[in-house]
Amino acid sequence: MSEKSVESLSEAEAAAELARLAEELAEHDRRYYAEDAPTITDAAYDAMRRRNLAIEQRFPHLIREDSPSKRVGAEVSAKFGKITHAVPMLSLDNAFADDDVVEFVGRIRRFLRLGADTPIAITAEPKIDGLSLSLRYERGRLVSAATRGDGQVGENVTPNARTVADIPNVLSGDFPDVLEVRGEVYMSHADFAEINRRNAEAGKPLFANPRNAAAGSLRQLDASITASRPLRFFAYAWGEISEMPADTQMGMVAAFRSYGFRTNPLMKLFDSVEGLLSQYHLIEADRASLGYDIDGVVYKVDRLDLQQRLGFISRSPRWAIAHKFPAEKATTILTGIDIQVGRTGALTPVARLEPVTVGGVVVTNATLHNEDYIKGIGNSGQAIRDEEHDIRIGDTVIVQRAGDVIPQILDVVMEKRPADATPYVFPIRCPACDSHAVREEGEVVRRCTGGLICPAQAVERLRHFVSRNAFDIDGLGEKQIEFFFHAEDPALRVRSPADIFTLRRRQEGSLTKLENIEGFGVTSARKLFAAIDDRRQVELSRFLFALGIRHIGETNAKRLARHYISFDAFRKAGSEAVIPEGKGDKGNAAWQELTAVSGIGAIVAEAVVEFFAEEHNRQVVDALLAEVTPLDEERIGDVSSPVSGKTVVFTGSLEKMSRDEAKAMAEKLGAKVAGSVSKKTDLVVAGPGAGSKLKTATELGIEVISEDQWFERVNQAG
Ligand code: IVH
Repeated sequence: MSEKSVESLSEAEAAAELARLAEELAEHDRRYYAEDAPTITDAAYDAMRRRNLAIEQRFPHLIREDSPSKRVGAEVSAKFGKITHAVPMLSLDNAFADDDVVEFVGRIRRFLRLGADTPIAITAEPKIDGLSLSLRYERGRLVSAATRGDGQVGENVTPNARTVADIPNVLSGDFPDVLEVRGEVYMSHADFAEINRRNAEAGKPLFANPRNAAAGSLRQLDASITASRPLRFFAYAWGEISEMPADTQMGMVAAFRSYGFRTNPLMKLFDSVEGLLSQYHLIEADRASLGYDIDGVVYKVDRLDLQQRLGFISRSPRWAIAHKFPAEKATTILTGIDIQVGRTGALTPVARLEPVTVGGVVVTNATLHNEDYIKGIGNSGQAIRDEEHDIRIGDTVIVQRAGDVIPQILDVVMEKRPADATPYVFPIRCPACDSHAVREEGEVVRRCTGGLICPAQAVERLRHFVSRNAFDIDGLGEKQIEFFFHAEDPALRVRSPADIFTLRRRQEGSLTKLENIEGFGVTSARKLFAAIDDRRQVELSRFLFALGIRHIGETNAKRLARHYISFDAFRKAGSEAVIPEGKGDKGNAAWQELTAVSGIGAIVAEAVVEFFAEEHNRQVVDALLAEVTPLDEERIGDVSSPVSGKTVVFTGSLEKMSRDEAKAMAEKLGAKVAGSVSKKTDLVVAGPGAGSKLKTATELGIEVISEDQWFERVNQAG
C-alpha cells in the first residue's frame, strides 16, 4: 500500500484518514484486547498509531473525539500491549575479575588492529540495578515507552512512564525528530524503605528489594498507582535516532542531558585499563552511600564509529562489558538435597536451605552442580574447598548469590557439622523413572538412561519447547505443562510438542472442557488457545532452538537458520550428512557444508546428525510440522549490498582489519563467510602470504580481490 506522506496531505485528506484510522485502530484494539486474536503485527499496529499521531500533530484542530491517541490509558486494561523495538535491546557480557577487563580491552585492540601505543578511550559508569526502559520521542513528544521484554518485543508501559518525574513528556533543546532514549528505571533506598514501611502498616506484602519495587511499580495496569510511586530514571543508551547528535558515547549522554534527562554523574572517560579499574574501585567504595542499588560498572568504547566496527556477538556488544561487583554471601543450614532431572537426563542436585537473606533477596534453594561438587572434587578432579570436605545434609553452609544467577553453596562451616551427619549418597537411579543413571567415562554429569520413557525428561523438553526464546507460548508455564503432561483424559493430555497444537481440536470432540478445569476458566482457556494459535507460524531460529537438539542453543539455532533459510533445507542437511569416521575422512558434501557454517563445529554437527538419525525425533518433527509452519529465515542476502548472498573466503594476512572484523563486516553485509575455498565460493579476499586457498581459488576460476578492492567494493572506508 502506498501511503501519502503526512506532509503532503490536504486538510480534507487528513480528516478522512483520521476517521479511517480511528475506526481501524478501534477494531484492532478490540481484536487484540477483547479477543486476544490480533490480525496485524505489532509493528504494523504501531505504525498506524504513529501515523495517526503525526497527522494529528500537523492538524491539531482535526483531532477527533474518538481519536485513538486519547485512548492510550484505557487500553491497558486486561494486560499490557506489546511494542516491537525498532532496534533490539541488548544485554551486556560480564567481567568478574580485573583480568577479564584487561582481556576485554585486549580483545578490542586486536579486533581493531590498534598498535600497542594507540590510545583507546573507554567510558566507565555505574551499572544501575533497576529495569531498562526504551522511550520513543517523535518531534520531541513522548509517544511510547517499552520495557525490555525479550529484547525484541517489550511491554507497552507508556501511560506509566508518563508519570515518572525524571522522564520528560516533552523534550527541550535541539533534539532529533525521532529519538529513542534508553536507560534504567530504579527506586532509591529511601523511597524503597518508605514504601515498605507503608505496606507493612497496611498489612500488605513487602517488596524484596528496590529493583522488585521499581518493576512492580512500573508494571501497574493502573497508571495512577505508578504515579504514586517515586520512580527515577537515568538515561545511558539509545535505539532509533533520526540524526545522531554526537559521535561519542560521552557526547550522546551530554546531548541527553540537554534534552532534559538525568544522566549518571559518575560516568567518566579513561584511556587505560588502569584508569577503568581505578574508577571501578572508587565506585565500589562509594556504593553504600549512593542511595540506590548498583551491581557493577559498565565500560563502553567511547567512539561510536569504533562501536559500529566492533559490532555484536550474539546478544551483547563487543564494545561494552559489565564489570560486576563481587557476590554477596551468607550462612544458613542445608536441610535437604533434591535431585532434578533435566531435558537431557542430567541429574542435578539442588540444595534446600533454611531461608536466608543474601544481599536483599531471600534464598531457599541453591545449586550443588553435580555429584563431585558435593564430594568436594572439582571438574578436573582437583580438591575444592579446604581439605576436600564434602557437603552433608544438616551442615551449616556458606551461600553466595551474584546478580540474577542461581545461588551457589561455596563452603561448609566444619565446626558446626552435626555429629551424626553422614556423607550424601548420590542416587544411581533416576528419581523420576527409576531407570539407571550412569556416568560416562570422563563425564561429571550422571544421566538418566530412561530417554523417551522418563517423564521428567519429557516434561523438561516440553518446558523448553514453550520457553521464552523458543515457542514462547503465554499461559503455558511450568505448572500448566505438568498438568497437561500428567492429565489422564486423552482430550487434555500433552506428551509431545504437536499435542499442544491439537489440544483445542481434541477438546472440541470431547466432553472434557479446559474451561471447566480448576485453575483455568473461560477467559484463560480462550487466551491459551489464542496464544497457541498465534504460534502456528514461527521463526525458523525459534523452531530449531525449540527442538532441543543438544548443543543447539539460541546462537547456534540462529546460525543454522541463517545458513539454511528453510527447515526443509536444514533437515535435508541433517539427514544426509554422514559423520566422518577417521582422520582421513572428510565426510560427504552435506557434512562439509554443515561444518562450514560459521560457528558450527563437528560436535554440534554430530548432534544434528544424531538427532535426525533417531526415528522418534523424526516422528515428533513430522507431527509438529503438520500443525506448525516454520517461517523461512529472512535471507540475509536481503540486506542489499554488493556482497549479499555471496560466500566469501578471507585468506592471507589482512592489513586494515583483523580476521574477526573482516568476518563480522562481511556477515553484516549479508555475505556468508567460509573457512575453505570450494566450488560454492563466490569471492576470495587475499592478502599477502596467501597460499593454498588462493591456489585453489585460481584453479576453480573464482574471483580473487585484494583487501583494498574489498573496501572499494563494499564502499566503506578502510
Ligand atoms: S548499556 C547495548 N549502561 O544492564 C548495551 N546498561 O546487562 C546497552 N544497565 O539491559 C546497555 N546500567 O538494563 C548500560 N550504565 C548502564 C547500565 C545498563 C544498568 C542494565 C540494562 C541492560 C543490562 C545489561
